[in-house]
Amino acid sequence: MGGLRLKERLGKKFDEEIRFFKGMMQGPRIVGSIVPTSSITARRMASIVNPNSGLPVLELGPGTGAITKAILQRGVKPENLVAIEYSTDFYEHLVRMYPGVNVINGDAFNLDKTLAHMEGQKFDSAVSAVPLLNFPMQARTAMLESILDRLPHGRPFLQISYGAVSPIIARPDRYHIQHFDFIVRNIPPAQLWIYRRS
Ligand SMILES: C[S@@+](CC[C@H](N)C(=O)[O-])C[C@H]1O[C@@H](n2cnc3c(N)ncnc32)[C@H](O)[C@@H]1O
Repeated sequence: MGGLRLKERLGKKFDEEIRFFKGMMQGPRIVGSIVPTSSITARRMASIVNPNSGLPVLELGPGTGAITKAILQRGVKPENLVAIEYSTDFYEHLVRMYPGVNVINGDAFNLDKTLAHMEGQKFDSAVSAVPLLNFPMQARTAMLESILDRLPHGRPFLQISYGAVSPIIARPDRYHIQHFDFIVRNIPPAQLWIYRRS
């Protein structure tokens, strides 16, 4: 019985890795990593979420859903999670895997359009695995500003990245940057950054 369940679990994990690899082959610039986020990293990322704030949580670039799962495990109800995924393949997979979550097949760099149906909505916090380093700095700062405008003052936007410095340039007059964690048990090792309104 236990063996069967382990086999099923390993099968599912392998399935997700294959799906991820296929996505990577089709759009390396869009996917931006070689394997899904590790569960340790995903849990650390989800730790910034407040499941009792009464506000929905925003996730950007959920991919195969490792971080989605960790956010739900943190106690966020599926209907209180809004996840924006650009790839239609990943989007369809997420809709199947996470019933009730508001998965949107759209662009995290154009939130005015992607979240047009939720105009004025504030979010508790935002968590992103979008491969920012593959996009120009101007697009990164515009995305950050657009996210921070949707969070209550001081609430965090967390971004995973694989470089030693913040993927978004410092603008102390606009926002505060915190190096949140460095996680070795991730492929590749991951840096976590938090941005808040100053
Ligand atoms: C590094 S992968 C995320 C991995 C994910 N945490 C997992 O474990 O599967 C980056 C994800 O961001 C998505 N993405 C890239 N550009 C995007 C955009 N402009 N808007 C929304 N999602 C985007 C990719 O399709 C991909 O699913």
